Amino acid sequence: MVGTSNKVLKPTRQEDDKFAKKSGVLLEKLDNKILEINQLKAAATKETPEPESTTKDEFNSDGEEMEPSEAIDWDDKISVLQNVDPNAFRQYELACDRVKLFYIEQHEKQTVAYNIQARINFKTKTRAKMSVWEGLEKLNKLLDDSDPDTELSQIDHALQTAEAIRRDKKPRWFQLVGLIHDLGKLLYFFDSQGQWDVVGDTFPVGCKFLKKIIFAETFKKNSDFFNPLYNTKYGIYYKNCGLDKVMLSWGHDEYMYHVAKRNSKLPPEALAMIRYHSFYPWHKENAYQYLMNEDDKKMLSAVRAFNKYDLYSKSDDQPLLDVKELKGYYLDLIDEYFPTKIIEF
Ligand SMILES: [Fe+2]
Ligand SMILES: [Fe+2]
Repeated sequence: MVGTSNKVLKPTRQEDDKFAKKSGVLLEKLDNKILEINQLKAAATKETPEPESTTKDEFNSDGEEMEPSEAIDWDDKISVLQNVDPNAFRQYELACDRVKLFYIEQHEKQTVAYNIQARINFKTKTRAKMSVWEGLEKLNKLLDDSDPDTELSQIDHALQTAEAIRRDKKPRWFQLVGLIHDLGKLLYFFDSQGQWDVVGDTFPVGCKFLKKIIFAETFKKNSDFFNPLYNTKYGIYYKNCGLDKVMLSWGHDEYMYHVAKRNSKLPPEALAMIRYHSFYPWHKENAYQYLMNEDDKKMLSAVRAFNKYDLYSKSDDQPLLDVKELKGYYLDLIDEYFPTKIIEF
């Protein structure tokens, strides 16, 4: 099946640096738009009762086996939410054309075949060797040509997220997740075919595309949409198989999850936050619960807790940060959880 109906083009490793930077600006602007939409959705959802969750009570159960990080109260108040005005976000359905066009392309091209090939590509080569901080600095070049007054740079967003988590006195590993959760966007410099396989909301491939996915109507152009193996409720999966067995659309989340899993001592909750932070149909819309196992129920609380920092740390009210001042703290934090220092990306 691999490489038949969806032929994978040769990766663009040698692409011209200038082109990469200019394209990176578009990528970053697009990603900001997508984040904005999710932020608006989050704000809009706040005004309506929380959707029913059949598993909600189980997350707070005291009778379950204790996990190392279970002492964290995932539902406690977070400081970054204090200055956010949900009333400022009313028109979230009016997404700009660029975002719609992005999802039309993403939903057409994220097939099972493409996803298998992307994972083969990932496992069969090393794209770069560098430290986590060097990776962040490389990623920062995505914004070299853009207007610094209108967008946060990648390092700014990473630090804003991490600092918000730190300010709320969350564990050190949680702060590190804030710093590195988008580091997988480095994929754009390596193997990506465009923007559609780097950013955007993620969703399972290999089973029915649910209406809870943003712009779900655009899946009709995806060849899997008509494949009887893939277009049923469970598709190639089975009831409560666990999200670990489910192939989520390839992008910076999935890529960074694998990099972090292979190179770090981060706990399962941290890896889940990285892997599922763009899986809005799941962590925001409560879809695909029938694919979850017991472990995923615990992870969902963690992912939701992280998501608030990811979204709201982009709020205009966040304090300006001095990268040089904070660098030492985060270098120590990186060394604590990435002991080999030089990472294979
Ligand atoms: Fe992200
Ligand atoms: Fe982010």
